[in-house]
Amino acid sequence: MSTTSIRIKPVNGAGAYVSGIDLNRLDKPTINLLITALGDNGVLFFREQSIKPEKHIELAECFGKININRFFSPVQEHPQIAQVLKEPSQEKNIGENWHTDHSYDQIPALGSILVARDLPSRGGDTLFAGMFAAYEGLSDDMKSKIAGLTATHSSRHVFGAAAFDDGDDRTGRLGNSEKATQDSVHPVVITHPVSGRKAIYVNPEFTVRINDMPEAKSDALLQLLYAHCQQKNYIHRFNWQPGSVAFWDNRATWHKALNDYPGQRRLMHRITVEGERLFA
Ligand code: SIN
Repeated sequence: MSTTSIRIKPVNGAGAYVSGIDLNRLDKPTINLLITALGDNGVLFFREQSIKPEKHIELAECFGKININRFFSPVQEHPQIAQVLKEPSQEKNIGENWHTDHSYDQIPALGSILVARDLPSRGGDTLFAGMFAAYEGLSDDMKSKIAGLTATHSSRHVFGAAAFDDGDDRTGRLGNSEKATQDSVHPVVITHPVSGRKAIYVNPEFTVRINDMPEAKSDALLQLLYAHCQQKNYIHRFNWQPGSVAFWDNRATWHKALNDYPGQRRLMHRITVEGERLFA
């Protein structure tokens, strides 16, 4: 495949649409182009792809080692692929709150490649928020206030025993609450390892506190940052169609799966690629 046919069209908020590409046939120059495009745009959207599970795995391996998900049920015969599933009888979906996957890991995941498999007749879009633009949109005062701060992230309150004891619905989930023991510390502002741009790296789902400050002050600062990041101009709403694929970078975006399709099924296949330690 030649890279000359590939078009990358950035959108407002977060991400870019990539056309002129077949994700089943990637050569080294195309992979390099996608790595740079992902680092610059935070999420890449593809349409009209026809990608089988084996090819989904091959594709993910072009970008790094696959992280086998410890909380979501795998696709049969493909443990590398996690199911992001909501059955018609379920009320809760996976990923409804704004989050950055795996920020509770000391070495957080680079990103995930999500492939649409079974879509509701309407609804089920995913929102992406761009953390480069959100950082750049902060006042100088706020930038200097958060420079050098670190935050603690955790998986315990989301995937731990308490979440299930709370009547959580296990369909599509492995449980494995005993594995939800991860806590990690990362800078509140990271420098993206590929683009070199600064990004806000706290998120409403997994960040539990900003370190070295009283709890009330930490809560207030997190709420300010979260409100800032959720402004419309940092957000893109992605409408899934059969053949859609999204590849997001957790170091540059938040995402949130809308839960607006009661009584319908939605099944996505997700592969998460491992990343590296993050620095300010
Ligand atoms: C996720 O948070 O990984 C799921 C996103 C989605 O289902 O749209």
